[in-house]
Amino acid sequence: MSKKIPVIIDCDPGHDDALALMWALSAPDKLDVRGVTTVAGNQTLEKVTRNALKMLTVCGRTDIPLAVGAAGPVCRPNREVGAPIVHGESGLDGPQLPEPACEPVKMSALELLIKLLSESEEELTLVVLGAHTNVACLFTARPDLKEKIERIYMMGGGTMGNWTPAAEFNIWFDPESARTVFNSGVPITMAGLDATQKAYVTREENELLRAQGGKASVLAAELIDYFSRYHYKIEGFPGCTLHDPSAIAALLVPEVFGSENCRVDVETSGELTSGMTVIDRINYIGKIMGREVNCNAEVLFTVDREAFVREFLAAMKRLDALV
Ligand code: RIB
Ligand code: CA
Repeated sequence: MSKKIPVIIDCDPGHDDALALMWALSAPDKLDVRGVTTVAGNQTLEKVTRNALKMLTVCGRTDIPLAVGAAGPVCRPNREVGAPIVHGESGLDGPQLPEPACEPVKMSALELLIKLLSESEEELTLVVLGAHTNVACLFTARPDLKEKIERIYMMGGGTMGNWTPAAEFNIWFDPESARTVFNSGVPITMAGLDATQKAYVTREENELLRAQGGKASVLAAELIDYFSRYHYKIEGFPGCTLHDPSAIAALLVPEVFGSENCRVDVETSGELTSGMTVIDRINYIGKIMGREVNCNAEVLFTVDREAFVREFLAAMKRLDALV
């Protein structure tokens, strides 16, 4: 049996964060979720933390330590927090969820990240599903702990935007922190919009999910019911794009994606492009500019959508048996 992967999940639930947590917790034989940290983004820190606690409760995993992170970008104190047009006022509108049966641990996200990384005998994998504020704070406070991180799987960025024409929401929310993370030297797998906008669930597939009938499958279908409204009405997509679950899928079933090793950096000062991920797929910097730079990210560009959806439905069916 292959060794379990020890992970820490940093998130801002958010419907797709919630679905990503469900996918991660559907495979306890493959993923050892050592901790969850929250960061403001889709909603305020208080709301996303409450939502994350609810999801741990629903998934029967109140044993996992959860710590509260950053309330907003350090460098952009006036950043407007929340995306109610996407996730509603609570950040997880739609399904009826139980009150949390657990509370955050009595330490900050930064302290929990430092504790888990310091105490682990093995390297840990970070899954980053929101702004990079907590991770950037970790690298600033304890750069020595970078070597304890196997890889970062993050949802964010892309060759296009979804919050501005140039910037994807997670990177837009805190560009300076994202730049710190992309330039940290820690290996990154980037589930950006080029792949995640192709990783969608159609209405018909969502009904197949609901028909699986278990508690997790029905909840996932209800989360998609609400989350898909934005994708149909505002973005005109053919289905509900599962952004954050793509980062978990890249960890659990990487074979459903196509990727390229690229050099990625983050624009932080552009009037129109702040938060844009600048992805060098050709190595122009090296070939044209003559400056040797290393590829710092495996960027996902394609997905076998049907296989992705099959894996997602199978994961929810596994979770049905666990909750
Ligand atoms: O752009 C999509 C990303 O922004 C997802 O992580 C979603 O949850 C929001 O945080
Ligand atoms: Ca998110």
